[in-house]
Amino acid sequence: MDPVRNPYAPGAGQRPPELAGRGRELDVFDVVLERVARGRPERSLVLTGLRGVGKTVLLNTLRSAAIGRLWGTGKIEARPDQSLRRPVSGALHMAIRELAPHHRDPDRVDEVLGVLKAFALRANDGNAKLRDRWAPGIDVPPARGRADSGDIEIDLVELFTDAASLATDVGTGIALFIDEMQDLSATDVSALCAACHELSQLGAPLIVVGAGLPHLPAVLSAAKSYSERLFRYARIDRLDRDAADLALGVPAEREGVEYDQEALDLLYEKSGGYPYFVQAYGKATWDHAPQTPITADDVRVAAPEAEGELAVGFFGSRFERATPAEREYMRAMAALSDDPGNDMDAAVPTSEIAISLGRKPASLSPARDALIKKGLIYSGERGTVAFTVPHFGRYLRTQPV
Ligand SMILES: Nc1ncnc2c1ncn2[C@@H]1O[C@H](COP(=O)(O)OP(=O)(O)OP(=O)(O)O)[C@@H](O)[C@H]1O
Ligand SMILES: [Mg+2]
Repeated sequence: MDPVRNPYAPGAGQRPPELAGRGRELDVFDVVLERVARGRPERSLVLTGLRGVGKTVLLNTLRSAAIGRLWGTGKIEARPDQSLRRPVSGALHMAIRELAPHHRDPDRVDEVLGVLKAFALRANDGNAKLRDRWAPGIDVPPARGRADSGDIEIDLVELFTDAASLATDVGTGIALFIDEMQDLSATDVSALCAACHELSQLGAPLIVVGAGLPHLPAVLSAAKSYSERLFRYARIDRLDRDAADLALGVPAEREGVEYDQEALDLLYEKSGGYPYFVQAYGKATWDHAPQTPITADDVRVAAPEAEGELAVGFFGSRFERATPAEREYMRAMAALSDDPGNDMDAAVPTSEIAISLGRKPASLSPARDALIKKGLIYSGERGTVAFTVPHFGRYLRTQPV
């Protein structure tokens, strides 16, 4: 089929041609937006799941939903070793700019921008050198004595309260979206939870919507025990059969192309319903199929190409981020996580990894911690680790050492 018209989109954060199987999350979020805008108590949403299940594209879709209701929105992607102040400044600047045209009092908007600037300038603390100093692109003089204490928790509460008051004036809200939320520092997570807690008690219309790896709820509750009551966790998983068929079928139909039932059977078997894999197999199959309807044979012919691209783009690129010691650790994990009959890699006790490598558990902690920090593995339960990347164990087991 014409590769130019190929609708599928494998890739990090790539908007899929059809966002399948996420109706429930979208409905829940609509209710959250409506309730928060009316000052009703409501928990915010945190999306968790493995790599490539579609957290980022869902987060972006939720953001569009908020913008559709005239909310002010901003988004950040957390990174390890980066403090929250600067990205939050940028995101809230964006949110306020979205609200400003609907606000009747430009002076009040400028006042809040002044508070935002004061908050932002604190990002330069400890940066003595003039040329390293960051100049936030906010065209008003900084306010004094608000959101500029240097204590991130106090400053976030003050900034959020003022920003939310603008949204109250226009009858909507502000949503701050945080991707890769597990990468926030403990101090920042704790400050963020405290600020959200405070804001929800005030009934102020500002919410934080997060997305991250499966251990994100543990990261949040380690910072603040009440985080479970603050956020509603939505586990984003692989697509069920019906949703996977829609993800493939709807975009094809728009191009006048159909699938045989056996082709869809085989595609689901190969992709396991993981959204990234659905897109990758869909794309390769489209390019190889000579005509509509697409058959199971077309899928068979195309599969090696899809697997080759996944090996490079999805698995290989991540494996390359690991040092030799970390790779050894993951190979041992892969051997131990082999669970025939189960499509998913099982979690592995760290003690077993130590035994299989003939090492003392403590000597492996640096490799384990570094892999967690790189987002390649996570510890869902104490004393165990699992891959964040679906089918990663299977991929490693096929790689020559
Ligand atoms: N609901 C869906 N239906 C069809 N395809 C989807 C769906 N969600 C995501 N995808 C596709 O899956 C791929 C991965 O999506 P995305 O980058 O959002 O995943 P992620 O969970 O953020 O991964 P990571 O943890 O690596 O950041 C993209 O190619 C996207 O188009
Ligand atoms: Mg993502």
